[in-house]
This record gives sequence, C-alpha cells and structure tokens, in this order.
Amino acid sequence: MKIAVFPGSFDPVTLGHLSVIEAVAPLFDKIYVAIGVNADKPGCFPVEQRKQWLQQVLSSFDNIEIIDYNGLTVDLCKTLNAKFLVRGLRNVIDFQYEKDMAEANRKLWPELQTLFIPTLPEYSCISSSVVRDVFRHGGDCSQFLPKGVKLK
Ligand code: PNS
Repeated sequence: MKIAVFPGSFDPVTLGHLSVIEAVAPLFDKIYVAIGVNADKPGCFPVEQRKQWLQQVLSSFDNIEIIDYNGLTVDLCKTLNAKFLVRGLRNVIDFQYEKDMAEANRKLWPELQTLFIPTLPEYSCISSSVVRDVFRHGGDCSQFLPKGVKLK
C-alpha cells in the first residue's frame, strides 16, 4: 500500500493546498493530510476549525484522512508507515527551504522520500500567511480559499 503524508499548518487551507492535494490524490492509496501542532505557536485559527475546513474541502476524496500531530513529521511518517512526504512549491524560495527540510528528514529516516509538487501558477502568490494578513485587515479572502471555507 502506497501511503503519503501531506503535512502543514493549514492555517487556513488555501486553493494552493487544494491544487497540490488534487495532483497527488491519484498517486497514493492513502494520504494523511496532517496538521502540525506546535504548542509554542498556536497559530491564528484553532486546530479543530482548521480540521473542519479540511474535512469539508476534501470530503469527496475517499483516500484522504485529516489528522493532527505533535512532534517531528518524520516520526509521524514512521508511525503511519508512510514513506512519501508531499510538499507544495510556489517558487524558488520555497524550494530552497523545502530542499533543506527534505534532506534533514531523509537523514532522520533514510526510507522517506519527499515529493515536491508545484502549485498551479495562478495560485503561486497564495500562502496562508498572506490570507491571514488580508483577513486581519478586513479584506476579502474568498478568492484565495476553497469554496465553503469562510474565515471568522
Ligand atoms: O505549512 P507549513 O507551516 O509550511 O508547515 C510546516 C510543518 C508543520 C510541515 C513543519 O513545520 C514541520 O514539519 N513541523 C514539525 C517539526 C519537524 O518535523 N520539523 C522539521 C525537521 S527537519
């Protein structure tokens, strides 16, 4: 069984995340979309809310499960026996950071392979942090978010 983990903060889930998930969903038997929880950085939206949005957006995929986790992503992958880690790339700045993380993760667990998936070009300017900033300043975030995700 081919199992992958797509980890992230998803604070909140964006159209960019969705484009990555749509690209990889046919490639794996099971994909865990995993919300990384950091007690020192609670984030903007509660984890339960982020989970609900993901469940709603991804309800049509029968091979996707939404989970949250603490600690190292590589440890989660080991526990789930997931040998593939999926990360989205928007630009070369993402690539430099993600390449370093992929190499570090592979040193921690040599069986783990990271797959980089480019987001659709029309979504390359979208990040959760941009969405949060627009939201905080009262702007309309709807064009950055999957249908049904309403920030509050
Ligand atoms: O959406 P983000 O903010 O880019 O997600 C980052 C996340 C949660 C994937 C990353 O911070 C992470 O993997 N955190 C868990 C701790 C860990 O494994 N760090 C990497 C060590 S190489």
